[in-house]
Amino acid sequence: MAAEDLPEVVAIERASFANPWTGPLFLQELDARFSRILLGCDAAGRVIGYVCRWVVADEMHVLNVAVDARARGRGLGAALMAEVIEEARRHGAAAVTLEVRRSNDAGRRLYARFGFQRVGERPDYYGRGEDALILRLPLRDG
Ligand SMILES: CC(C)(COP(=O)(O)OP(=O)(O)OC[C@H]1O[C@@H](n2cnc3c(N)ncnc32)[C@H](O)[C@@H]1OP(=O)(O)O)[C@@H](O)C(=O)NCCC(=O)NCCS
Repeated sequence: MAAEDLPEVVAIERASFANPWTGPLFLQELDARFSRILLGCDAAGRVIGYVCRWVVADEMHVLNVAVDARARGRGLGAALMAEVIEEARRHGAAAVTLEVRRSNDAGRRLYARFGFQRVGERPDYYGRGEDALILRLPLRDG
């Protein structure tokens, strides 16, 4: 992602989350050395999805992933996650971690497909009754 992609990314973000990231927050991520935002585009070059990840110590942490509602269910979410997991393997990371709302069926199905395991939960993390599940995909033994 580059700064010029901001309007398209923010539009998808606003349509995808109750508490969306703001434009300045995305720009801050672009400036952070440990952060990277990977885009998914359609044949015309329009942005239809993205994933933001951090490299933290020897782990890869996925902070945000979203696909334009009109483009969902066609494998882009899985493709973005596959790329992040592949990058984590290339870096020799021990694991990929992320948080997901307990109520987010689409997100949980997506992560389950890659073998993410629940390693903890944060009750009411997203507001009353909206727990976060902490998921981890180990990439190495031990
Ligand atoms: C989660 C999200 C990124 C998935 O993107 P996508 O491009 O639709 O995902 P894919 O087409 O690769 O599908 C991945 C899996 O999710 C499942 N899925 C997709 N939409 C679903 C839905 N509405 N309900 C249940 N499962 C769903 C698919 O069936 C697939 O699993 P399967 O292959 O085992 O059947 C997308 O739904 C989204 O942007 N949601 C809003 C933002 C969000 O919740 N992000 C995750 C925050 S942790």
